[in-house]
Amino acid sequence: MAKKKYKNWTIINDEDGISWLHLNVPKSSANILNEQVIIELEEIVKQLVSKPPTGVIFLSDKESGFIAGADINEFTTFESEQAALVNINRAHAIFNAIENLSCPTVALIHGFCLGGGMELALACRYRIAEEDSRLGLPEVKLGIHPGFGGTVRSIERMGSFAALDLILTGRSLKARQAKKTGLITYSVPQRHLLTAAKQTVLKPPKIKSLPWWEKIINSNLVRPLVAKILSKKVAKRAARSHYPAPYAIIDLWLKHLNNRTRMLEEEAKSIAHLLLGKTAQNLIRVFKLTDELKGLAKDKSVSINHIHVIGGGVMGGDIAIWCALQGYNVTLQDQRHETLAAVIQRGAKLYKKILKQTRLVNSTLDRLTADIKGNGLVKADVVIEAIFEDANVKCHLFKEIEPKMKRTAVIATNTSSIPLEQLTGSLKKPDRLVGLHFFNPVSKMPLVEIVVGEKTSKKAQQVAITLTKKIKKLPLPVTSTPGFLVNRILMPYLTEAVTLFEEGVPITVIDKIALEFGMPMGPIELADTVGLDICLHVAENLAESMPITVSEHLRELVAKKILGKKTGQGFYQFKKGKLVKPQLKSNYVAPTDIKERLILRLINETMACLREHVAGSKDLVDAGIIFGTGFAPFHGGPLQYVKDRGQEQVLMALENLEKRHGSRFKPDDGWKSIVIE
Ligand code: NAI
Repeated sequence: MAKKKYKNWTIINDEDGISWLHLNVPKSSANILNEQVIIELEEIVKQLVSKPPTGVIFLSDKESGFIAGADINEFTTFESEQAALVNINRAHAIFNAIENLSCPTVALIHGFCLGGGMELALACRYRIAEEDSRLGLPEVKLGIHPGFGGTVRSIERMGSFAALDLILTGRSLKARQAKKTGLITYSVPQRHLLTAAKQTVLKPPKIKSLPWWEKIINSNLVRPLVAKILSKKVAKRAARSHYPAPYAIIDLWLKHLNNRTRMLEEEAKSIAHLLLGKTAQNLIRVFKLTDELKGLAKDKSVSINHIHVIGGGVMGGDIAIWCALQGYNVTLQDQRHETLAAVIQRGAKLYKKILKQTRLVNSTLDRLTADIKGNGLVKADVVIEAIFEDANVKCHLFKEIEPKMKRTAVIATNTSSIPLEQLTGSLKKPDRLVGLHFFNPVSKMPLVEIVVGEKTSKKAQQVAITLTKKIKKLPLPVTSTPGFLVNRILMPYLTEAVTLFEEGVPITVIDKIALEFGMPMGPIELADTVGLDICLHVAENLAESMPITVSEHLRELVAKKILGKKTGQGFYQFKKGKLVKPQLKSNYVAPTDIKERLILRLINETMACLREHVAGSKDLVDAGIIFGTGFAPFHGGPLQYVKDRGQEQVLMALENLEKRHGSRFKPDDGWKSIVIE
């Protein structure tokens, strides 16, 4: 067997004359298609073209999978569209050459096969994937689309509907689904991979053609109609002005499907254009921020086997359910049997929805134990406290449980507003207390604030951060100051929305303007969803330290037990859990500064948090606000928004608002002392 080694690739020619192209990018846990990999591939492909072997098989030597995608770090280095296009065209030429090789070509896939990796696989004649692999074209999540011929080739393999669905949603498919849709040729068990690849080269099977009705969908007559429907569907999730990529994909398909060469050229131009745009650059930044947050889990010595949760209410129950789902043994303690029974039922429902198979649901439920007596406390490595939001009650509990806990165990409180310093008094070892502030609903919200008090030990912090990462959430360390980061910046925004309502602006108008800015939900609907009692509680707490006025109207609603979605009535009415939008008077004219008032209050508070070092850096502040509130990701976070709009400009806008609406808009001192770069 002849062997040739490059930095990233190794070519092994076997006794049948088949070239096995092994990819193993050094110093990286996953294979990525970086510039070096592409340059080497170019040389290899040139040789294959000049002297075609019996067949070519692409495979990965990484345990993590085939190829995770292109190198995202290179996406932010292009100085112009032209420079990006040169690089993209180079990859196009290589992939075209692979596609045109006269011998059979196979991509042999295990683990992840995403983005550029999937596009390389699509350029091969056959794709064979191990049953557990995950395949997809997730580029749209970064504000771009496939750019190495993937739009054209996925449509050819899967048909227009299936391919466009895959590209527009960015979701990934399991091998079996991928086989059904035509994205891959075969899905086989791990042990058969090598034989299947070899057999495919030696006895190349006929490639299935697409069903007859594909011709109809793709015809010049029907395509505009389908494109219109698709655009409408996309518009429900993402506005063209905020997220141009999905619309660019539909346009490519609509305008160029009939001309393959042209569609490939236009794909390259389109992605080069999108890559240099603000949306893609900001979404790429957001993607990197998730990595930064995950990277905070540094202490490899942290070992967590058992979690004991105390308080089985809305939060404690859901935290216990989630931790068991992620593989932990969890005991859940509450004062009431009924509460514990309700949590187990809630867990079973969620597990059924996510895991589907009874066997998996049952084994997950086995890890979640109702524990009224608190027997699990003694073996727990982490005790999560989620009882009533009352400092005295929490202190009393801590005093009671500490003597029974393991010497090394950490106490993590889910308090949403009490500074840790008010809770450490009752503890013999105050350095074991850390905040683990989950957001509601736990299963959906990606962020957990790691609240670090004056006395919190480094070890307790690392335990909290590691646990958060292990349960697939994003950890953000914050100081133990009122409201921490997320609630603190949300509150001025929410109270401004209520002030606008009290001034007579219809709630639908307020929410619509926030949505137009790019928020995932309007502030009034958000308040109703979180619960008006909880909003009031947080507002009252924060009003002691921040310039916010607690609305009398809000107090009245809460006094009347009008609490939002959970009671069927809040600012909005809810029927069967669905929000009922009130009709807007046709002659209503909204004030012009609603967006500025909402967003700049949030941004001014963000600046205050940055100045006070509530989170470690500008990037971490932005990350926390994006993942904790859903703040329009395409803006890249509030501080990135300030940078893009111009710091001076934002400051002037705040000063104008202060003149018109009063001191709550007074620019924070940070505007003068900090430069957002
Ligand atoms: P909840 O009122 O729904 O649940 C509290 C549970 O604790 C009840 O089931 C109660 O029986 C139990 N409990 C009280 N004292 C106990 C004790 N000594 N031993 C055992 N069980 C005890 O409250 P919720 O909303 O779940 O809040 C819990 C904590 O999470 C609070 O600190 C709250 O501030 C915080 N939080 C709440 C959020 C929310 O949206 N509800 C969001 C983030 C944090």
